[in-house]
Amino acid sequence: MSVRTLAKNQPASFAFTSEALEQSKRVIAKYPAGRQASAVIPLLDLAQRQEGWVSRPAIECIAGMLDMPVIRVLEVATFYTMFNLHPVGKTHVQVCTSLSCALRGSNDVVKACQEKLGVGLGETTPDGAFTVSEVECAGACVNAPVAQVGDDYYEDLDFDSTVKILDAFKRGEKPPHGSQSGRDASAPAGEPTSLTEDPTKPIAKQDLVAAKAAFEKAKAEAAAAAAAKASGKA
Ligand code: FES
Repeated sequence: MSVRTLAKNQPASFAFTSEALEQSKRVIAKYPAGRQASAVIPLLDLAQRQEGWVSRPAIECIAGMLDMPVIRVLEVATFYTMFNLHPVGKTHVQVCTSLSCALRGSNDVVKACQEKLGVGLGETTPDGAFTVSEVECAGACVNAPVAQVGDDYYEDLDFDSTVKILDAFKRGEKPPHGSQSGRDASAPAGEPTSLTEDPTKPIAKQDLVAAKAAFEKAKAEAAAAAAAKASGKA
């Protein structure tokens, strides 16, 4: 379970850049008057994309822009693990350790990060190059275990593939994201077990007239049997 607290060291202030401010105005304009609070998540995201993390002054600034109590924005920022409440390294590795990922080996992913980078969950390498975070369900359970780096998901991970990915980032490369086990998206890892028929084959025509006649016959027989039973009782 990830712990969500604000950073101890906070900047004195926060302001959106003029470009981010224009973007936030466009986002707010999408919602009806009086419903601007609906823009809270996109605005927190904009603040994070600008600063790399979400500070208390950013939360206060957004609360002012959306006419919301600061506590309401704070609740959203602390609930979603997608928001970094502390400064993070250049490469932010977010490892999902929720149930599906845990069952599929997220411990090995964490172990690979620890061995390769020398830092544990919630820690940043001394050179500021990598931060490893623990996050709640990343919404890609079918490809568990999963780690998110930037906007990309690395899926079907194990110890070795995690090491390979980290090595590539260390070299300044951007390794291919998606399934690391070679399967196509979320297709079955082995042979398909359902929907195995050829979907391009024409569907066999059904004799609906015969089917209806059989149904009516069965219905009449059931009614006759029920009547016979009732008259026997009488
Ligand atoms: S549990 Fe990890 S993606 Fe859902």
